[in-house]
Amino acid sequence: MGREKPDFYALKAQKEGYPARSVYKLEEIQQKFGVLKKAGRVLDVGSSPGSWSLYTLKLLKGAGFVCGVDLTPPTPGAVPPNAFFFQGDIFDAKTEATLNSHGPYDTILSDAAPLTTGNRTVDTGRSYNLCERVILLAEGPLLKHQGNLVIKIFQGGDEKILGDMMRKIFTQVKALRPQAVRKESFETYYIGLGKRNA
Ligand SMILES: C[S@@+](CC[C@H](N)C(=O)[O-])C[C@H]1O[C@@H](n2cnc3c(N)ncnc32)[C@H](O)[C@@H]1O
Repeated sequence: MGREKPDFYALKAQKEGYPARSVYKLEEIQQKFGVLKKAGRVLDVGSSPGSWSLYTLKLLKGAGFVCGVDLTPPTPGAVPPNAFFFQGDIFDAKTEATLNSHGPYDTILSDAAPLTTGNRTVDTGRSYNLCERVILLAEGPLLKHQGNLVIKIFQGGDEKILGDMMRKIFTQVKALRPQAVRKESFETYYIGLGKRNA
């Protein structure tokens, strides 16, 4: 139950109108690496409940476009004309086709994470599969040349392999554990900057 206790970031998110405290992880990533480009097209993988998309839309100030996909249905409510949210599994070909129809993207963000079981081997393995899928999508036509990628990784598995995959695709790869990551969490973020020519 300790995890549910509202901490500094949860209270800040409530005050600033974000549905999840995870927004401050993206904020720090953006401040350090500028992954979101002015008027860019952005894909948000694992977008629910919507904090990263909301932050991105605010930053884009009505320009650019955000496409969000998640296993859970999008939160009902008004969607700005420069956004599209849908329910889908990133592993499905149908989902990939929908993502392609709104792409290509300047930035792919993935805060996607499996439902945790408490078994670290199982959880890191599932997180690895999600990350690998997103990296392979980013390697293809979904992400533009010079585009950026952010993925969330559960540490303790084969994350070195994921880093090596990313280094083949991007000119720079950084790792960051934002301050808003909870102390007890084993997640971190890998950031790929500047997709190389295919
Ligand atoms: C930590 S939450 C994302 C929070 C979000 N970035 C925000 O700020 O509101 C992780 C999300 O990944 C989604 N997810 C996990 N596996 C997925 C998959 N295979 N396809 C699409 N979404 C997935 C989950 O449903 C969950 O909503």
